[in-house]
Amino acid sequence: MGMTIDSMNNPFFQQDILSSEQYTKDNLNILVKVSHQMKEVVEKHGSLDLLKGKLITALFYEPSSRTFASFVAAIQRLGGGFIPLQGITYSSVTKGETLEDTVRTFACYSDAVVIRHPEVGSAKKAAAASTVPVINAGDGVGEHPTQSLLDYYTIVERFGKIDGLTISMVGDLLNGRTIHSLIKLVSLYPSVKINLVSPEILKLPEVILDKIKKKVKIFVTDRLDSVIAKSDVVYVTRVQKERFTDLNLYEKLKHYYIVTPQLLKKAKKSTIIMHPLPRVGEISADVDSDPRSVYIKDQMRNGVYTRMALLSLILSRN
Ligand code: NCD
Repeated sequence: MGMTIDSMNNPFFQQDILSSEQYTKDNLNILVKVSHQMKEVVEKHGSLDLLKGKLITALFYEPSSRTFASFVAAIQRLGGGFIPLQGITYSSVTKGETLEDTVRTFACYSDAVVIRHPEVGSAKKAAAASTVPVINAGDGVGEHPTQSLLDYYTIVERFGKIDGLTISMVGDLLNGRTIHSLIKLVSLYPSVKINLVSPEILKLPEVILDKIKKKVKIFVTDRLDSVIAKSDVVYVTRVQKERFTDLNLYEKLKHYYIVTPQLLKKAKKSTIIMHPLPRVGEISADVDSDPRSVYIKDQMRNGVYTRMALLSLILSRN
């Protein structure tokens, strides 16, 4: 079905995916192209057998619905098998096994390991111990490079480009790993404008800000209503409760922004509203039926297609 990226042009073959800094414009083009092919195949045939005979471990130390299930869906739609480890309660981790030993084990049983873990840098640590490719499905407040891929694909699918867009990132920019990954990706495009919208104490970490402000135009504000009219993309995130030690502070901040139909009256007709989900009140339910909302249908479906693309590129040469 024309799914031929020859081996010379497949930069993902047998590679780890640890950070969105690994993506370049060129390899993003490949991912978008293959994701689109996956979408067409799934819509027409439901599945294909590119990963027949391959096994992938999904090793999840932190809660997950979408990321876990969309990886499993992607693997199965590609004809592969998987070893699901969700929650560490029943595994040897509770006996005190190190992350490295656990990963070494699953590298013996399978052809790739997808890992989610509460510690920043855990995926990198896992990759160093593993003999098979490791995919970071979220390392604490670090990164979430496969989420950024589906977010990127969703934006490109809608606008046909990233160049020239005004993208507002809203909410917990300090702890939101989906933000950390997506922001690095979109700042590959110098004519992008990024609005960083957060309360002062949930500002984007300086290390990330320093990197991106050399590349693109940045505007920092705590007022969503001041930037909504000019935004092409409004990317809303949940205040990350699990990263707070002071729950009173969390309670004060959790609904700092609430996207409502009222607020969206100020937005352009072409604007899209995104959210990695889960949401806990920061987008009101009556926004769901607004045609500008893409967090339910587009982002979630694209999560399967982009993960299919990534897995097939990592595990099959052509
Ligand atoms: C995100 C995550 O786990 O970082 N969820 C997801 O993967 N779709 C966002 C979040 O939990 O807020």
